[in-house]
Amino acid sequence: MLSIIVPTFREAENILPLVRRIRTALEPAVEYEIVMVDDNSRDGTDVRVEELQREGVPVRLIVRTTERGLSGAILRGFREARGDWLLCMDADMSHPPEAIPEMLRALQENLADLVVGSRYVKGGGVEKGWGFYRWLNSQVALWLARPLSPVRDNGAGFFLLPRRVFEQGRDLNPIGYKMLIEISVKCPCHKVVEVPIQFADRKFGQSKLNFREQMLYLLHLKRLYDYKFGRVSRFGQFCAIGASGVVVTLVAYATLQKLGLLREPAYALAIWMAMTWNFVPNRYLTFDLTAHHPVLPQYLRFVLTCLAGAMVNWTVNYFLIQQVPWFSRHIYWAALVGIGAGTVFNFFGSQAWVFRLGRQEKK
Ligand code: GDD
Ligand code: MN
Repeated sequence: MLSIIVPTFREAENILPLVRRIRTALEPAVEYEIVMVDDNSRDGTDVRVEELQREGVPVRLIVRTTERGLSGAILRGFREARGDWLLCMDADMSHPPEAIPEMLRALQENLADLVVGSRYVKGGGVEKGWGFYRWLNSQVALWLARPLSPVRDNGAGFFLLPRRVFEQGRDLNPIGYKMLIEISVKCPCHKVVEVPIQFADRKFGQSKLNFREQMLYLLHLKRLYDYKFGRVSRFGQFCAIGASGVVVTLVAYATLQKLGLLREPAYALAIWMAMTWNFVPNRYLTFDLTAHHPVLPQYLRFVLTCLAGAMVNWTVNYFLIQQVPWFSRHIYWAALVGIGAGTVFNFFGSQAWVFRLGRQEKK
């Protein structure tokens, strides 16, 4: 049996036409159930579903009153579904139900672990009228998730997988909008097939994808990068933050001198400001697992580590220039190697000492 999970939030007008299209596409060949997971819309969704139940349509409604969010709703639907195949689609008819039989065929014929209704394979596309901004937004979102997922259309909300693949997933986290990326990272989806679809614009109601959801998406990506790439991901964040600290140093150095400070104290102050600047995102982002620890001791340890890192930087630079003739002729390369050594030192110092996980926190 196929379970079709439809997350809904204020989609009352779409319920009847969507279900009509699903029935036409599937009956009588496919045995299916529809599980709608509604986040307390109170817009008459329940009345529509009851009407369909009276007609004998195999549809159920789960209303969540204490939680909200698309991914959480999908997870709940997957957990309550009874079928062997789990399919997720939007309620607003952006995803054509007519593609479901082909997706099922792709699953069975290829023994696929995941089938995606895809906009970005040959034959797929989006309805005209996507302005430049929406297109660009979608492209950037796709591109940011490329290293995480083999799916071309990794932002899709139309996908199908066998229950066994879903059940083997570990630590599924209901954050944000993109359940597909979460699943393709955390469930064993080795064989992926993408079936082309035409993504239609909604006719009724409004999109719920707002700015907040887009910020949550970035946080979601960060967590998945940490999950998949561990220390490498955190080191990347540490370096990006460090690079921003370089800019802070230079700007502060110039500004403080304009304000009348002498060059030497201005530079010392600028370094300290950059350390403080770097501390904040490293506490809340790179090493977010310890962000609830007391801030002051953490800050002091961070400053001490950076000072030690600066000494490492200085020493490496000094010996390279003293000992290696090539570096004495290329002193800026020696400085770069010194900076690299200092950064690596700072990173491992931060991980092992500044933002150390408590014994209980290490799982
Ligand atoms: N239960 C529940 N709770 N459902 C929600 C929530 C929520 O908080 N937010 C959105 N939904 C439901 C909507 O009712 C709709 O059925 C579906 O999730 C998609 O929401 P839209 O608001 O229509 O989002 P969209 O069209 O901008 O985004 C869709 O297309 C994107 C690709 O352009 C989604 O499918 C995305 O996953 C997809 O990336
Ligand atoms: Mn939509």
